[in-house]
Amino acid sequence: MASFPTTRTTTPKQKPADDALAFGRVLTDHMFLMDYTDGEGWHSPRILPHGPLSLDPATTVLHYGQAIFDGLKAFRGADGQIRLFRADRHAQRFNRSAKLMCMPELPVDVIRQSFDALVGLDADWVPRKPGTSLYLRPTIIATDVMLGVHPSHSYLYFLILSPVGSYYREGVKPVRILATDSHVRAVKGGTGEAKTAANYAQSLAGQRDAEAAGYTQVLYLDGVHRKYLDEVGTMNIMVKIGDEVITPPLAGTILDGVTRASALELMRDWGLKVTERPITIDEVMQAGRDGSLQEMWGTGTAAVVSPVGTLGYQGEDVTINGGQTGALTQKLYDAITAIQYGRSNDPHGWTSVVPEVRG
Ligand code: COI
Repeated sequence: MASFPTTRTTTPKQKPADDALAFGRVLTDHMFLMDYTDGEGWHSPRILPHGPLSLDPATTVLHYGQAIFDGLKAFRGADGQIRLFRADRHAQRFNRSAKLMCMPELPVDVIRQSFDALVGLDADWVPRKPGTSLYLRPTIIATDVMLGVHPSHSYLYFLILSPVGSYYREGVKPVRILATDSHVRAVKGGTGEAKTAANYAQSLAGQRDAEAAGYTQVLYLDGVHRKYLDEVGTMNIMVKIGDEVITPPLAGTILDGVTRASALELMRDWGLKVTERPITIDEVMQAGRDGSLQEMWGTGTAAVVSPVGTLGYQGEDVTINGGQTGALTQKLYDAITAIQYGRSNDPHGWTSVVPEVRG
């Protein structure tokens, strides 16, 4: 395994109990940093104690949001081993986001080495309770100090780690989702398929309104017609109508979710009818009214597979599967988490074991 210059913390933090973990509130002892400068490329990889960055107030990222990130998880298996889930696919998506945001790509093997080195060093932070994991947040920010609107000539890659429990307060119980036609997440030609800070910044107002109305999350519709399902912002969306599973296609406005891809692959393995096509909110609401909307769920690294119990739109709520988790949603959750925790075999080779760093 590659080794990097490492300064270990002299003040290790108290680790929270696995039971107390929420999402992203606790950070581990170390972080991985690497710099990019035009002409020199990526250089100076290093591991330091997790701590504040020092940035000039005129740093580009603080003004124009030239920033990308990804999110993946490491799981502690019943056998004690730590496994990353689909690390290559996350690294490739990270580079697609970089390209879309005019940022330099990082070689996939360097990204992978940073994952292994940091998770291996902070291995004791990988929680053990079922349903918990260590979330990895690789990020690149633009670090030029200038106020002109241009792609930066220098960047910082950092990787930070957070032990996490469920993303939603509800845990894996069904959530209430509000489809909105007053807030738009993305349009074709924009940044919708990049994992970039701006997409999340602009989701805050819709999220605030949905929470005020008693929902957990917002289901965005396409930005042009405001009628086709896009995504939920923190997860991709899937519906089962009759015997067909339908999910919006990757057409430039939604994120190419890794859990989305995994769920589609598993369902196709199981011989289910799975269609990636545009689907309107009217079709879904009508199916909700006539009972053919059997199940609805979101997929995401943070959210895993989250059942939707209620879908609201224009003042009307439809209850899905009596507000209970559907059989297919549960089967997907069980199958994906069994692979992640090493409880079942991994026919697609999605997991990779992280060697722990001792001493
Ligand atoms: C993820 O699922 O990894 C996400 O990035 C969603 C959200 C926490 C930003």
